[in-house]
Amino acid sequence: MDSFILHGGTRLKGKIEISGSKNSALPIMAACLMSSSKMTLKGVPRLSDIDSMAKLLGELGCHVFRHEPASASPSSLSGLTAPALNGPLDITVTDQSKVEARYDIVSTMRASICVLGPLLAKRGKAIVSIPGGCNIGDRPVDLHVRGLHKLGAEFRNENGNIVAEVRGRLKGCRMYLGGAMGPTVLGTINVMCAAALAEGETVLVGAACEPEVSDCAEMLNKMGAQIRGHGTPEIRIEGVDKLTGVEHRVIPDRIECGTFMIAAAITNGELELKNCNMDHLIAVVDRLDEVGVKVSRENGTIFVNSTRRLNPVEMSTQPYPGFPTDLQAQLMALLCLGDGISVVTERVFPDRFLHVGELNRMGGRVRKEGPTAIVQGVKELQGARVMASDLRASAALVLAGLVAKGTTRIDRVYHIDRGYEKIEQKLAAVGAGIERVREK
Ligand code: EPZ
Repeated sequence: MDSFILHGGTRLKGKIEISGSKNSALPIMAACLMSSSKMTLKGVPRLSDIDSMAKLLGELGCHVFRHEPASASPSSLSGLTAPALNGPLDITVTDQSKVEARYDIVSTMRASICVLGPLLAKRGKAIVSIPGGCNIGDRPVDLHVRGLHKLGAEFRNENGNIVAEVRGRLKGCRMYLGGAMGPTVLGTINVMCAAALAEGETVLVGAACEPEVSDCAEMLNKMGAQIRGHGTPEIRIEGVDKLTGVEHRVIPDRIECGTFMIAAAITNGELELKNCNMDHLIAVVDRLDEVGVKVSRENGTIFVNSTRRLNPVEMSTQPYPGFPTDLQAQLMALLCLGDGISVVTERVFPDRFLHVGELNRMGGRVRKEGPTAIVQGVKELQGARVMASDLRASAALVLAGLVAKGTTRIDRVYHIDRGYEKIEQKLAAVGAGIERVREK
């Protein structure tokens, strides 16, 4: 397993190109199962989770083909520390008979659950291995199942699999989709996809408002679906008979963008982040402003710079448009260097604190009390050997390593490779002392 070695202490300065959104691309790829002809997706990042979804779609009878990157004109890349542009991804369904998402793939990537709604709507049956718990906590799929059941699907558990079937066509209805922890992002997308091919109208009340839901809805509408209200808690879907192949570019990755904003802040640096949408990060920009980090926008570029003093804050993660749980760990790394005591409450995944122990190994002073972490700011972090434990916790360790005194070694960086495209190349290009040590 690869590791990262970081030599902390450099101010980051320069430009970084933000990749397409992983969390948009994954359910969008799954939605391609519903298309009657070739889909072309642009901006899909090169990540191991995307490879897993491509493999799953292959097992479900799709032909998945990644084009070589278009040769970028020198002017479009001049001065930009970007990786080569990714080529588009073509997805064509060639065999409709396959309906099973196997344990081997689902256990490596929970987003495999996104094939449930599309398979049911298009093929009338789905067998998906039940995703187990994961390292950010208990992650049930009861809301996915409840929503699809309301559309007429029958469910049973068989040898660790969810087996779902529908006689004839799914039927639209009005339903409440929220749960004890609020709305569900992938659950909303699953039910929305299925409803797009159902008979009649479906109204989803308590739907997730995340930009990734809207991105998928917009692609489905291009394919011929009739979806309104996405981006709000009430989505209305008028079912159609058929969805056809289109071209679609996935939105920029707001979590990658937020991570690099914090990288600028923690190194007291100055970064220009290209290809991003600041509207998707309004709560993050607001919190950073309170911490003392200045974020501004000009056309599609975000400029971030920070002062030396970092104010402590009280904050909680929330569903969109609130502060995203996927940036909680990274913000905590920054608050470790705050001038006072910060309070961070996790309201989406209350157990998502694997980074706390590792940040403390680097000299942080964080104490966890239930779903809350009390962060006592310290003057400096120190390099240490730490372990990546989940995607965003690992990103927090990279941020800490950028500023820590001495050398930090982060083991098991395959977690980072699931969700950050060429992170070490992007950071090294703006001055970070970071290198990948390949497993022998
Ligand atoms: C998506 O997961 C993202 N994953 C997660 O990103 C992200 O943290 C999460 O949304 C919240 O924003 C992808 O997009 C691939 P949820 P999802 O259903 O949809 C509870 C990352 O780091 N719940 O919105 O699976 C659940 O336990 C990843 O990139 C139920 O109770 O999350 C949680 O408390 C990790 N029953 C809350 O709802 C259900 O059936 C929100 O989860 C479903 C969810």
